Amino acid sequence: MAADREVAAPVDLVADGTAALEWVDGYLQRLRELPVLAQVAPGEIRSRLPASPPEQGEPFEAVLRDVEDVLLPGLTHWQSPRFFAYFAVSSSVPGILAELLAAALNNVAILWRTSPASTELESLTLDWAAQLLGLPAAWHGHIEDTASTSTLAALIAAREATGGRAVVCSEHAHSSVEKAAKMLGLELRSVPADEAFRMRVDALDLRDAAAVVATVGTTSTTSVDPVRAIAERCRDAGVWLHVDAAYAGSAWVCPELAWSRDGVELADSLVVNAHKWMFVPMDCSLLWSSRPDDLRRAFSLVPEYLRTPDEEDALSLSEYGPALGRRFRSLKLWAVLRCFGREGLQARIREAVRLAELFEGWVREEPGWEVVAPRPFSVVCFRRTPGTDEENAALLERVNRSGEIFISHTRLNGRYALRLAVGNERTTEDDVVLAWDALRRAAA
Ligand SMILES: Cc1ncc(COP(=O)(O)O)c(C=O)c1O
Repeated sequence: MAADREVAAPVDLVADGTAALEWVDGYLQRLRELPVLAQVAPGEIRSRLPASPPEQGEPFEAVLRDVEDVLLPGLTHWQSPRFFAYFAVSSSVPGILAELLAAALNNVAILWRTSPASTELESLTLDWAAQLLGLPAAWHGHIEDTASTSTLAALIAAREATGGRAVVCSEHAHSSVEKAAKMLGLELRSVPADEAFRMRVDALDLRDAAAVVATVGTTSTTSVDPVRAIAERCRDAGVWLHVDAAYAGSAWVCPELAWSRDGVELADSLVVNAHKWMFVPMDCSLLWSSRPDDLRRAFSLVPEYLRTPDEEDALSLSEYGPALGRRFRSLKLWAVLRCFGREGLQARIREAVRLAELFEGWVREEPGWEVVAPRPFSVVCFRRTPGTDEENAALLERVNRSGEIFISHTRLNGRYALRLAVGNERTTEDDVVLAWDALRRAAA
C-alpha cells in the first residue's frame, strides 16, 4: 500500500494485548461477583451502543472499555462456577491462549497444502482424543463446529451410503437430530424410552431407515441408550448407527465411567463435543467415523481451482464434511490435552461427578424435594414435591433472577423438572452448597 494511503493502526499488539490479557485475568477472578444470568431486558444492550460504525478508527482501549461497561452486564456468564444450566462448560486457560494463537495464525485449511500443520495436527489430536476415550484406533476423526453439524454430516453420509429415507432416534434425542432430518427431507421416527429414559430397543422400527441415532448422555437426564443392542439391530438391517455422545463422551476418559461406552465401537460414526466437557472453548465438535470413505463420497467435490495431486486431496479434511474453510480448531484441543493430560481431564470430570452426587444426596434427604431421574454423570434432575409444575417453574425463575446461580429445566413424563448440571472446571463444593441454599431460600 502506498505510504500516503496507509491507514494508521490505532492498536498496539503488545500494549493493548497486555491490557486485554489483564482484563481476561480479572474477569476470570471476579466471576463469582457477577450475576450468572444476564439481568437485562431484550434490546437494552443494543440501545446502549452507537447505531452506526465510526468514521475514524478508535483505539482498542475504547473497545475494551465498552466490553467492560456495556457488554458485560449483557452477558450470561457461561464461565461462572455457578452456571449450572443446560450442560455447564469451561473455556480453560490453555484453550483461551491457543485461541489467540489460532487467530494470529489465521490458517484456513481448505486443502492439506493451505495448512499442512493444521490438517495434520487435527488428525493427530483426534487420534489422541480417541486413545483417551478408548475408541477404536482405526477411526478417522475430524473437527466440526458443533454437534448439530457433526450429526448432520453423519446423516448425510448415512443417507448416501444406505439410500434409506428415515432417521430413527429416541424421544429423548437432542433436537439437532430432528433438525437434521428436517433439513435432509428425511422422516424422523421417534422411539419411546423406558422408565430410565433409555431408547427401547424392542420398539425400534428400522424399515427404510438410513440411520439410527443413539445417545450417550441425553440432554434432559443424561440417560444412556443401549448402544450395543441397537448396534446389533443396525448391523442386521444394514442401517448406519450414529452415536451422539456430545456431552457424556468426555467421561470415557475415566475408567469408572467407561461402562457408558459399551457398544460404541460398533458405531459408524460418533460425535463428542470437546467444547462441552473437555474444557475446550466453543466451538470444537469431534466427529469420528469407521467409514471415512462413505463420508468422503458424500462430501467430496473439488473444483478446478482447488485441484491438487490425489494423495494430497485425500488428506484435505474439507473432503469429509460440509465446510470448505476450516479454522485451526485443533490448536486449542491440543493445548488442553497437553496442559491437562489424561490425569487432569480425569480429575476435573471426577470432581464434577462427585459434586453432582453430593447435591443429589442433599435433595434426596430433604423433605419437600425429590430426585426425578437416575444420575449417571454430573446432572441432577429434581423438583419440589408436592408442588405443581407452575410452582416449580416459578421457583426456577426466582432463583435465576437472583443472579446467584443459573439452572435450567426439562419435562419428564409430562412433568416439569429442574436440572442442575455440574461441569465448569472452576466449580467447587462451596458453589454447590450455595446453589442448594439458594434453591431452598427461593422455595421457602
Ligand atoms: C446430546 C446433545 N447432542 C447435541 C447437542 C447439540 O450441540 P451443539 O450445540 O454443539 O450443536 C446437544 C446440546 O446441548 C446435546 O445435549
